[in-house]
Amino acid sequence: MAKSYVFHRHSRQGFPLAVRGDGSYVIDSEGRRYLDASGGAAVSCLGHSHPAVIAAIKAQLDRLPYAHTSFFTNEPSETLAEHLIQRAPEGLGRVYFVSGGSEANETALKLARQYFVEIGQPQRHRFIARRQSYHGNTLGALAVGGNLLRRELFAPLLIETSHISPCYAFRYREGGEDDAAFGRRVADELEAEILRLGPENVAGFIAEPVVGATSGAVPPVPGYFKRIREICDRYGVLLILDEVMCGMGRTGTLFACEQEGIAPDLLTCAKGLGAGYQPIGAVLCAERVHDAIAAGSGFFQHGFTYIGHATTCAAGLAVQRTIENDNLLDNVRRRGAALRDGIEGRFGNHPHIGDIRGRGLFLGVELVADRGSNTPFDPALRIYARIKAEAMARGLMCYPSGGTIDGARGDHVLLAPPFIIGDTEIEQIVAILGEAIDAAVAATVQPARA
Ligand SMILES: Cc1ncc(COP(=O)(O)O)c(C=O)c1O
Repeated sequence: MAKSYVFHRHSRQGFPLAVRGDGSYVIDSEGRRYLDASGGAAVSCLGHSHPAVIAAIKAQLDRLPYAHTSFFTNEPSETLAEHLIQRAPEGLGRVYFVSGGSEANETALKLARQYFVEIGQPQRHRFIARRQSYHGNTLGALAVGGNLLRRELFAPLLIETSHISPCYAFRYREGGEDDAAFGRRVADELEAEILRLGPENVAGFIAEPVVGATSGAVPPVPGYFKRIREICDRYGVLLILDEVMCGMGRTGTLFACEQEGIAPDLLTCAKGLGAGYQPIGAVLCAERVHDAIAAGSGFFQHGFTYIGHATTCAAGLAVQRTIENDNLLDNVRRRGAALRDGIEGRFGNHPHIGDIRGRGLFLGVELVADRGSNTPFDPALRIYARIKAEAMARGLMCYPSGGTIDGARGDHVLLAPPFIIGDTEIEQIVAILGEAIDAAVAATVQPARA
């Protein structure tokens, strides 16, 4: 290919040129079709060519592409905010629209901080988060994230954050501990850390209800988030749930936390909100958080040029209406069950798959070198990267990562196909992923001497 002037994600790796979308497929300039089993990174929940969303974006561009929010509000942002709040967990009353997940979490952290200043508790500034989590790549979001690989280089630039244990039963439940005891133990680490820091200093606790990229679709054990909610309430700490990846229907309910029976004070979402048709993220905040600012300074000391962007909100609204009108959450649950059955059938006894997990169309498989002991592969083998390459060579997009267990050890593959995925495509995902994993593992095994 001719010289590229784009600063690509990887400078020594070539990428196919994507030129067209067709339902659950991306098509490259050579005409090759790639079945999108991961929605890119859990983004493309309506596939790559949805006519209703494309028409809504075009119609909005014809009316009004954008008007700066220091001068105007606009219809798409007003209507999308109403749509979200009417369906949101109890207490959430306002929406702040941004351009993606990192901006959403950055905004949530600053909103939490300003809230405490407004209500006369200016000493509250500390955030607690979990290891093996990811909240974005801007400095604030990166600081609260627990993804060691992504943090390491920038550690000197990051605000001080506490990290407690993740709720990751496959790796961290101790012998003799049942789910309830495990959940209680790791949730209680939050209380211990709040007390260590002094509750008067703590602003918020941030967590992904179902952990995405860092550990591969890890759901909490039952009761964990109820306990977390109790602890936050006891010490007046804001609970921030990051649903950037797991939200907007991906787990089978519009908000992932619905399945935990709790409501956060701040909730962030992005990816599935605009399904990749436009870059959009959002913070949903408790009415009382908004009201504290309204009754105080009256101005959230924040803002970006593109907040509340009319065209991105029109895209988000069309995506959310499509999900509802086409009853796609039902599809997420039914097809999610079919995908899980297929994966369990193919990998349930696989010598190198230690765990199959997730919810809805958000599933993860964790690789092991040895199934009996669940020993991970040597990280130097970069099994996850080999799987991605083998899958792409076979026309399948999936989202493998390494450092699953502790930032260094462990490999997993994350699957997050579009909500419109069909049964035949599900069979293809299982078959091709199986081939890709087997090929990646085989390539690491030394051939036996004759
Ligand atoms: C849980 C979670 N939070 C935040 C982000 C950051 O979102 P973005 O890449 O849109 O900034 C991601 C991205 O993968 C994510 O998975």
